Amino acid sequence: MTINVNSNLCSQCGVCSKVCTYSIIEPVDEMQLPRVHEGMDAICVSCGHCEAFCPSGALMLADGSNKAHEIVIPKGAISPENLGHFLKSRRSIRTYKQTQVPRTTIESILDIVRYAPSGGNSQLVEWLVIHDPHVVREIAERTIDWHRELVNNGDSMFSPYASMMVDAWDKGNDIICRGAPHMIIAHIAENKPMTMIDAIIALTYFEIAAQAFGVGTCWVGAALLAFQEQPSILEYLNLPKGRTPVFPMLFGYPQNTPQLIPRRNFPHVTWR
Ligand SMILES: Cc1cc2nc3c(=O)[nH]c(=O)nc-3n(C[C@H](O)[C@H](O)[C@H](O)COP(=O)(O)O)c2cc1C
Ligand code: SF4
Ligand code: SF4
Repeated sequence: MTINVNSNLCSQCGVCSKVCTYSIIEPVDEMQLPRVHEGMDAICVSCGHCEAFCPSGALMLADGSNKAHEIVIPKGAISPENLGHFLKSRRSIRTYKQTQVPRTTIESILDIVRYAPSGGNSQLVEWLVIHDPHVVREIAERTIDWHRELVNNGDSMFSPYASMMVDAWDKGNDIICRGAPHMIIAHIAENKPMTMIDAIIALTYFEIAAQAFGVGTCWVGAALLAFQEQPSILEYLNLPKGRTPVFPMLFGYPQNTPQLIPRRNFPHVTWR
């Protein structure tokens, strides 16, 4: 990617050069406008920092598609107290209404999630949205079948909660998918394992953004084990070729909402 600088607007402040992720923008001087060092276009990760931090609106990435946006919320509009309260109020949701979350709402959440950080701005995380509640239920059933096999084979050390989960299921409690109408699975390319970290960050964005739409979420570690160990479940998910699931998350409108922020440990910090 290269950059275009409007000479009428550029104040030669040098900010674009300082903020560039890979320091590939030549510092501006009286003789020339900022520009990407010769031959370094290929190193650019299209992070857009040069464009976003330019105080004069003088710089644009050369790729005209997928534009940068104005920041419309003034600085300080979301106070630390309010943001802190919002984050502390998020809870894992384990009871769901059967009302469907409209696809447009899910798209709006994902439109926020796409701004999650990713290594080298790679943006390689993709999504499987299971919107059909019957499919979510089928995943829960198949996961329990796998846990049941572990119990029957005396292999439950592998999943210490296996027999508890099977018992709960047999009593009519969907302890895997919690009766949630929807599930989202972040998936990555099999040959890019490091992007697993990006997927976890993106899912964390998803659960925070979802909360602002009144949508509750819950990570499903219990199903992840089955995805990893039971090939028939992976086949059922039918992810695009060459992709591997990182983590599933349930979501839907909460039936019960927390009245308190629960207690949590204080941070253990070492100062140097
Ligand atoms: C990696 C991970 C896996 C989890 N797996 C499950 C799960 O399988 N089932 C479940 O009910 N909750 C699961 N949770 C939710 C945690 O139990 C929950 O985050 C924790 O108890 C704190 O509660 P809070 O999210 O309401 O603050 C998981 C959370 C994480 C981060
Ligand atoms: S988009 Fe990012 S990496 Fe590319 S020139 Fe601008 S700041 Fe540097
Ligand atoms: S940040 Fe903008 S105004 Fe400053 S030197 Fe770069 S292009 Fe010019």
